Amino acid sequence: MKPINVGLLGIGTVGGGTYSVLKRNAEEIARRAGRPIQVSVVADRDVEQTRRLTDGNCRVTDDPFAVVADPEVDIVVELIGGDEVAKQLVLQAIANGKHVVTANKALLAKHGNEIFAAAQKKGVMVAFEAAVAGGIPIIKALREGLTANRIEWIAGIINGTTNFILSEMRDKGLSFTAVLKEAQRLGYAEADPTFDIEGVDAAHKLSIMSAIAFGNSMSFERAYVEGISTLDAADIRYAEQLGYRIKLLGITKRTAEGVELRVHPTLIPTRRLIANVEGAMNAVLVKGDAVGATLYYGKGAGAEPTASAVIADLVDVTRMHTADPEHRVPHLAFQPDAMVDLAILPMAEVVTSYYLRLRVEDRTGVLADVTRILADHDISIDAMIQREPGDDEQQTDIIMLTHQTRERNIDAAIVGIEALAAVQGKIIRLRLEQLL
Ligand code: NDP
Ligand code: HSE
Repeated sequence: MKPINVGLLGIGTVGGGTYSVLKRNAEEIARRAGRPIQVSVVADRDVEQTRRLTDGNCRVTDDPFAVVADPEVDIVVELIGGDEVAKQLVLQAIANGKHVVTANKALLAKHGNEIFAAAQKKGVMVAFEAAVAGGIPIIKALREGLTANRIEWIAGIINGTTNFILSEMRDKGLSFTAVLKEAQRLGYAEADPTFDIEGVDAAHKLSIMSAIAFGNSMSFERAYVEGISTLDAADIRYAEQLGYRIKLLGITKRTAEGVELRVHPTLIPTRRLIANVEGAMNAVLVKGDAVGATLYYGKGAGAEPTASAVIADLVDVTRMHTADPEHRVPHLAFQPDAMVDLAILPMAEVVTSYYLRLRVEDRTGVLADVTRILADHDISIDAMIQREPGDDEQQTDIIMLTHQTRERNIDAAIVGIEALAAVQGKIIRLRLEQLL
């Protein structure tokens, strides 16, 4: 049968993985897709390297705009990254009637509403399985497998770089910088690694999942984002003593007051499966009203795991290429005219539990003052430990876990506690989720 023609934009980590898995598994993939999937042209800045990688089996150019205009190309696979040139390329590909497969979460989180509307109008598909959690088929699960459910919440470890950093720091006592360099060497980190470390990459992915889960428009700009760059190794150790592990979680939850959309370091009970997801692995926990909690686990980054998701999309698009656009799976799971614009809850209104670490003078009455302020703000303490001070030490650390409260209550209590003469410096505040 006549092959379907792919124009590949970018043959770096993911593009390279996609090219080689397509070649290695060509026969199996064709049996599944119903026809061969053939890369007919590749665009990349480094033409010589691209010629070497493709070994004369396809055309090579340094001009991605020529590829999206190429009449021979049926599907454009965008793997150059970034959200400026990539946006122009994707919109031009759509305007030229081509289907698009992309792994670019930054692009979709920022411009997804515009891109999906353009694709809908033109009757083409934009597929993006690889944009969230690398090789884990979480988009497929949310869009199709869980379609009977009213999704209640999603909580995910959706950035491999930060999970790798947190795991290596805890297990091997390595420095933040050394581990980040290793994550870059292994191809996990974004071109700008601050996107990983400061939680932006996780927020991109979370915004995409939230839109699909709740039929809400893409709301990345309104997400609360806090990364791991200021996380102290002492808090990782205290959390362990209390039976918790710290992970960078992306959380989106439907509440009566609006949708929570937040990324931050989070304490999770060590006994939960998701707390034991280590290294660059990702995991996404989805709670549906009918199915209950479901957990998806796998490699969230790297050449071939991500290629696995890119090629799954290529097969889907190939199978649906000739189908009536009305009968395809909607881009964001809900029919375009059934999408809504739900309010995103400001962080001050979020209800969760907290971990507090205070450095205090080791004398009578200090703890009573602290607990009184918490009580004044209706905050109840769940657990507490006090570090044994050294022989000549006049100060100690108090670590507290609270029951659930509204974030604005804890903010106000922290201001009051920091004003006490016996409290030294800033209070460390982390959020805690039971994930039940
Ligand atoms: P790479 O930087 O490894 O690859 C991108 C390739 O595209 C490079 O060869 C780059 O060339 C080339 N390129 C960039 N801009 C242009 C341009 N204007 N014209 C021609 N060529 C261009 O990135 P990745 O493969 O890591 O990532 C690609 C996409 O996949 C990104 O959106 C990323 O967020 C996403 N992703 C990445 C994952 C991973 O594990 N790496 C996992 C999931 C998603 P040059 O190097 O010279 O700039
Ligand atoms: N930089 C991303 C990560 C790549 O570390 O998870 C996968 O999206």
